[in-house]
Amino acid sequence: MGDGFYLETMGCQMNVVDSEQIALLLGELGYTPRERPEDADLIVLNTCAIREKAERKVLGHLWQFKPLREANPRLLIAVGGCVAQQEGEKLLKEIPHLDIVFGTQNIHRLPELLRDAREKRQRRAETAFFDEAERLTRFPERCATGAVSRYLTIMQGCDNFCAYCVVPYVRGREVSRPAADVLAEARALVAQGTREVTLIGQNVNSYGRKSEGEPSFAELLTMVHDIKGLERLRFVTSHPRDISPELVACFATLPKLCRHIHLPLQSGADAVLRNMGRGYTAARYLERVEQLRAACPELRLTTDIIVGFPGETESDFLETLEMVKRVRFADAYLFRYSPRPGTKAVTLPGAVPPEVQQERFDRLLAVQDAISREIWASDVGRTLPVLVEGESRQGSGQLFGRSTWGRVINFSGDVALVGRVVPVRITASYHNSQLGEPV
Ligand code: SAH
Ligand code: SF4
Ligand code: F3S
Repeated sequence: MGDGFYLETMGCQMNVVDSEQIALLLGELGYTPRERPEDADLIVLNTCAIREKAERKVLGHLWQFKPLREANPRLLIAVGGCVAQQEGEKLLKEIPHLDIVFGTQNIHRLPELLRDAREKRQRRAETAFFDEAERLTRFPERCATGAVSRYLTIMQGCDNFCAYCVVPYVRGREVSRPAADVLAEARALVAQGTREVTLIGQNVNSYGRKSEGEPSFAELLTMVHDIKGLERLRFVTSHPRDISPELVACFATLPKLCRHIHLPLQSGADAVLRNMGRGYTAARYLERVEQLRAACPELRLTTDIIVGFPGETESDFLETLEMVKRVRFADAYLFRYSPRPGTKAVTLPGAVPPEVQQERFDRLLAVQDAISREIWASDVGRTLPVLVEGESRQGSGQLFGRSTWGRVINFSGDVALVGRVVPVRITASYHNSQLGEPV
């Protein structure tokens, strides 16, 4: 048996796709995947820096690996992703048993870094950013996993610089991938058996704006939609400021487009939105929601909200609470504001004390939980088309798939149904999933 690698992915869809590419590269070098770090000769952490907690988790993990290194002197440890990009060389200094740090635009250098680490015991950190022309040649090349549902990267980086956010610093400027490449990859995925594609980018609505001759996001969506053999189409993430009337119309005209949109609100108070630099008001956000629901009455919305942003008053918070009640999101990911090094928000006055943050978080969560429970419970008794993604546990006779709204549905059925859309009657609704029976 040759060398094995253990790869752990933290953070968002970007990292999921990057990890697929890392696995592909390591496979080409002769490494095979391992389930546990104890069994590996190479450990790779693909990391997230979005909140302080995520970053602390990385350091915690790295210290846990120290005894493994002592037990297996051949073991190499590498850190990639957004923490690697942010911390660079500093990580090598802090963690003496760390060998390699590779930034978000340096995945392609991993083979060379590994060789130098193995042969010359060189510890290196590579975190350079590259220009657009070079980055366009390096959108993740993908392995055939045969998975029913896959992410497809249409853009990288972000130009928005929301005051709280580290992404523009750790992912660089926004670049859009040429539509021809996106379509080629989508076709290749469908040819490998993929039935659902989720187009991903930090702000997909601004796709192609900086590149001459490229289609708009709504046009790209339509082109991917028309690929034969594709059953379902999703996209993430949308910036509320940049939703065009053409994109709204897609929800009425594209039958394969799932009836779900993730539309991060962040706050329901105009003063806070202004300080965040989000470029919309609460009224404008609501207007967009109404347009979307007019185009597609069945649409379900999900969102992200930050509580305790600097300067947020009790009355600002109440506006967020009000907004949540008005929009009735099917799900909301709630975060306590976490100061990130180098971002504009760390210089803003009016820090909200942790106990106030927590108290607002709990109040918002209680309101949102009740709304979520109601919405998902309303599916019970209905028969929904479910795209079957796989077995819940191998050999269990239990399958899982998703409704158009994206929630996982477990039901019993034959493995032969994987990859097909089947009618399932919903019998129960839980916190994160639903239970059903085949019809
Ligand atoms: N590009 C996407 C998502 C970015 S990160 C977008 O624009 O929506 C995902 C979520 O993490 C954000 O929507 C935000 O709610 C949250 N987030 C980002 N930075 C944060 C910070 N410093 N503290 C707390 N939450 C944060
Ligand atoms: Fe961060 Fe804002 Fe860009 Fe999203 S749009 S990644 S929140 S800077
Ligand atoms: Fe985290 Fe980087 Fe994504 S900071 S959320 S993994 S872009």
